[in-house]
Amino acid sequence: MTKITVETIRAMKARGEKIAALTAYDYPMTKLLDEAGVPLLLVGDSLGMVVLGYPDTTHVTMAEMEHHVRAAARAKPDALLGGDLPFQSYETVSSAVENAKRLVAAGAEFVKAEGGREILSQVQAIVAAGISFCGHLGMLPQHVLEEGGYHIKGKKDAEHQKLLDDAKALADAGAFAIVLELVTPPVAKEISQSLLIPTIGIGSGPDCDGQILVTHDLVGAFPWFTPRFVKPRVNCAAEIKSAVAAWKNSLG
Ligand code: KIV
Repeated sequence: MTKITVETIRAMKARGEKIAALTAYDYPMTKLLDEAGVPLLLVGDSLGMVVLGYPDTTHVTMAEMEHHVRAAARAKPDALLGGDLPFQSYETVSSAVENAKRLVAAGAEFVKAEGGREILSQVQAIVAAGISFCGHLGMLPQHVLEEGGYHIKGKKDAEHQKLLDDAKALADAGAFAIVLELVTPPVAKEISQSLLIPTIGIGSGPDCDGQILVTHDLVGAFPWFTPRFVKPRVNCAAEIKSAVAAWKNSLG
């Protein structure tokens, strides 16, 4: 495989080719997913729940993100590898640029942050610093506490219009892609059709330009919670438990 770049991902949309994206938080999983041919990998702050045991992503720190981005980057994937700017790490223009540079120094080839026009000056500054940026609209997990849960976005007219306007603003600011999380499928479709840059959906229906999942959800490695929109393709948790039980029983 040849190295995937931001341009490769944009060209996939232009060709109408669906973009597969998954989360990866460490060396072996990054290597496995890369060998499986996934072109877009994200060290998401979802690692807070599925790796670090936090109740939500608001506890994840820059130091933790850097640690996991470094581990994933050591796999030297052909896939494009990005990292999430964690909660409160991009509240000002200067902190956004400084922390985006820290993730790049750790090995991220792009950074992602949550929000639309409210973080536009941060996005413009990150792009002006020469760092590729991926947007994230819809349900914003870093806002879960103030929103009181993970709610679907785009049902109300005002939400629908805000999503369209935010997506256009992020694209105009230079984002190379936008994650749409828990956006109603018709609105996700409309946004995808209105932009030249790809949308990567999660729980937002089939008409986004690509799809991203938390890998642990896809392979059943975090059995204590699976989002309703994910159908695990393998039950890793059960496989591990039965392999361990078989080994333990073999000891006599
Ligand atoms: O944190 C994360 O893993 C994410 C993706 C699931 C989009 O933001």
